[in-house]
Amino acid sequence: MKTTKRIGMDHLARVTEEFTRQAQTFDTYAQQLDAEVGARFGGALGQAARGRLLDVACGPGVVTAALAPAAASVVAFDATDEMLAKARARCAKARLRNVAFKSGDAEHLPFSDGEFDGAVTRAAVHHFAEPQRAFDEMFRVLRPGGVAVIADVISSEDTDESRLHNAIERLRDPSHVRMLPASDLDAGLRRAGFRELQAATWDMDRELEEWLAIVSDPARVEPIRIVVRALAQAGRGAGFGLSIKDEKIVFIHRWRLIQAIKPAEH
Ligand SMILES: C[S@@+](CC[C@H](N)C(=O)[O-])C[C@H]1O[C@@H](n2cnc3c(N)ncnc32)[C@H](O)[C@@H]1O
Repeated sequence: MKTTKRIGMDHLARVTEEFTRQAQTFDTYAQQLDAEVGARFGGALGQAARGRLLDVACGPGVVTAALAPAAASVVAFDATDEMLAKARARCAKARLRNVAFKSGDAEHLPFSDGEFDGAVTRAAVHHFAEPQRAFDEMFRVLRPGGVAVIADVISSEDTDESRLHNAIERLRDPSHVRMLPASDLDAGLRRAGFRELQAATWDMDRELEEWLAIVSDPARVEPIRIVVRALAQAGRGAGFGLSIKDEKIVFIHRWRLIQAIKPAEH
């Protein structure tokens, strides 16, 4: 038990170190990531979008700022203070006055049972040391009948492909833990107690150089570039569609967004 907590704490230190360095580049990337972000998360929240919301691992607050205009209130929650500063700046610029900012660990949410009508998290599950703990916590802080919306990049259902894909992502960003296969992600949410899962999946084309640039660490990315090119040249898609197109290394990020309900009788 003690060892598990220690590993979690060490990992969280890695997350904050990494995202403190990435804060500026990630801020720009997150803003451009998804033109549909408001409709996507607001639509999946349904009626809950007008209530008290929690954005878990909010990063620079793009999802927070997209949801706040329709919500009663939003708590933007993240482990990295530099990311919360970006979220604060984004919300101030948009003159949003119903957003509170709080620092902490998604696996130990500092909120009461049933405090929120809706909870969202985007692009963060793959950074959690123990995603099940975060799912359990999101379930706990939602009121009965509340809605969670979880969106993340997923990996292949093929174990070897998933391992290879995640190994490459971990070399790029050591705070990456694991992009889950869709079946694991859904099973974790059901285990937490969520029901009526509805999922949407879509592919996003990516280019290796822009993906490497976000981590802003040239020394780290140089060997990755060499290994990934060799894999692509050998025809190894590595579970995420690695290939070479017009001399560029390209791949696909497969996104999954799940709407999950905390049963009303809970
Ligand atoms: C890839 S960014 C995504 C940010 C934001 N959700 C978005 O979509 O733009 C991941 C964020 O998760 C945060 N994070 C990772 N693990 C966390 C944890 N255990 N508790 C709280 N925040 C965490 C990081 O600090 C970082 O801001």
